[in-house]
Amino acid sequence: MAKESKRKVITAALPYANGSLHLGHMLEYVQADIFARFLRLSGDDVVFVCADDAHGAPIEIAASKEGVKPEELIERYRLEHVADFNDFLMSFDVYHTTHSSENRAYSDLFFKTLKKKGFIYQRMIEQTYCEVEKRFLPDRFVKGTCPKCKAEEQYGDNCEKCNSVYKPIDLVEPKCVVCGASPVRKSSVHYFFKLSSFSQKLKEWVTNHENIQPEIKNFVLNWINSGLEDWDITRDGPYFGFKIPGELNKYYYVWLDAPIGYIAATEKYAKEKLKKTAEELWKSPDTDVIHIIGKDIIYFHLLFWPAMLMGVGYSLPSAYVVHGHLTVNNEKMSKSRGNFFTAREYLDKFDPELLRFYYASNLSRTSSDINLDFQDFQNKINSELVSNISNFIYRTLNFINNNFDSKLGKMPAEDRLLAGTIQSKFDSVLKSYRECNYREAVKAILEISSLGNKYLQDREPWKLVKVNKNKCREILTLSANIAKNLAILLYPILPVFSVKIQKQLGLNRIALSDLNFGLTETKINMGRIIFTPIEETPKIGSELFPANLKVASVESVEDHPNADKLYVLKVNIGDETRTLVAGLKGMYSREQLLKRNIVVVTNLKPAKLRGVESQGMLLAAEKDGKIEILSAPKSVPGDSVFAEGLTPSEDEITFEQFQALGLSVEAKRVFYGDRILKTDKEEVVAVIEDGAKVR
Ligand code: 2FM
Ligand code: ZN
Repeated sequence: MAKESKRKVITAALPYANGSLHLGHMLEYVQADIFARFLRLSGDDVVFVCADDAHGAPIEIAASKEGVKPEELIERYRLEHVADFNDFLMSFDVYHTTHSSENRAYSDLFFKTLKKKGFIYQRMIEQTYCEVEKRFLPDRFVKGTCPKCKAEEQYGDNCEKCNSVYKPIDLVEPKCVVCGASPVRKSSVHYFFKLSSFSQKLKEWVTNHENIQPEIKNFVLNWINSGLEDWDITRDGPYFGFKIPGELNKYYYVWLDAPIGYIAATEKYAKEKLKKTAEELWKSPDTDVIHIIGKDIIYFHLLFWPAMLMGVGYSLPSAYVVHGHLTVNNEKMSKSRGNFFTAREYLDKFDPELLRFYYASNLSRTSSDINLDFQDFQNKINSELVSNISNFIYRTLNFINNNFDSKLGKMPAEDRLLAGTIQSKFDSVLKSYRECNYREAVKAILEISSLGNKYLQDREPWKLVKVNKNKCREILTLSANIAKNLAILLYPILPVFSVKIQKQLGLNRIALSDLNFGLTETKINMGRIIFTPIEETPKIGSELFPANLKVASVESVEDHPNADKLYVLKVNIGDETRTLVAGLKGMYSREQLLKRNIVVVTNLKPAKLRGVESQGMLLAAEKDGKIEILSAPKSVPGDSVFAEGLTPSEDEITFEQFQALGLSVEAKRVFYGDRILKTDKEEVVAVIEDGAKVR
């Protein structure tokens, strides 16, 4: 029989060990951490697990590019992640890595069990292989022409232009992204997991599950209904991962051992802290496993993973909390838009609790996207967290310090009604937390705080203290109790703030059972200001780059009707075609220009050149009379060209303002100060001597 209150294993997705955490990651970890803290506060037995996701081809390739061992690379990122998580106040019970002995043991256990039960079989397949790099090319390491719409420069998994999905071997004229060579097709024997044979069981499980959001259920059921294919769980070396037992050069695919990493992390904790195995916990009917994930990895967590668990005979996850993506200023975060922020860049400027509060105020249990708008962030922090909550608490405590020698009295009998009204809101806060509907929890907390503010406003203690000190003390006693209750209710979101307020009130380790108005006739400590308003609209490290540069492809080249040295070009900059007038005649032939990927200033004031309007300017570098066009061969028209860390301006600029940027060439790269111009796919190239100036 299952116990009333089960142990809760809470997981957040494991971040890859080859990149820094960014604010998009933090949305999920904040969501998960609030839940873990809330459940602990409610007295639940919680194991909050996470780990670095340390395997896969990208990690192996990144390490080999750097000339270090993968183990060294993943350890460096693990340490960086741990530091970021600590500073964002994550309360993981264990933070492990998938490259661990525990994970190897559980991965082998899963593999062997599934194989023994006939859920894994071998089959020969053909894949894209680079003979220069001597490796099979993963999806993102091969580019070519889309087999469907013929768009060029598309990755091996899907086409950005027509959204069709395919395999790397389907690409027309594929090229290895690492070395540029044309790969060949090569056969290899792979292991497949019989996902197809779980269709019916998965369908029943998803349909009857009480803790999967409806929109997510629909997604998953659609996939099942359109037919599940068996899953290739092998990768050939070179790869960084666990070798498949009995094989010389075959590894588990990273997505096989990553979710098993949840169990492995649990193992580390359970062995050390509970003297139990993770298997005992995960198989026990007294454990609830709750996965918190983003909507981009539903397929893995609601199909492959439960099927594996079914196959091995483990209990299935009890709940899924699936969140949407983070947008920043209403756009997808990207370096080129200048709205990409790492966790550390944020921490260098702001208190982690401000972002926790902002995220909490926006998070509900739906997978719609969450927008981080810095103006809204500033407003919310200043009006809600600082004015409404933090100032109320400080005013209350400070008044008690100054007027009553820090001593609380009894509760004002005539205001029992207010206490009752507030008390009745506690349940709705707790219910909202339990449903991961933090937005509603924050709303109700703010209502409580507003009631506190209104109470002080109405009772005017600053006047009353002169005429009836005792009554005044009672009123502040009620206020202090509101402050205490706020500190408890805010603990999951603002753990540091909460503990500071508890200390100021002379309390510690308060629990949900302390949600009451029983703090009377006692001495408190000094009230201190904790949060202050954000004075300026935050811009984390996003300086402006005055030019808006884009990759363009040359579609046509005509002679200028009125000028010998000029061409009139039509160029495609992604979503529009523009006319440019360029003085390249005699230096470049028409053929040399056609189809070429060039770089264009798109926010230049249009100018008529000998009667033809030029809607922008093509960039070229010049030195000693020699001219070379800037190019971006691996990018696609419309890709932004940027100086890393800077936001491209949308405002129109003049030719003179552009000249003043002083772009110049060094080692075939283009520099703005010490920043290199690039797209998100490559650095811009200018094959010309050092010191050439861009104009
Ligand atoms: O998508 C990702 O970033 C993966 N590293 C998440 C893995 S979650 C779990 F399955 F391990
Ligand atoms: Zn296509």
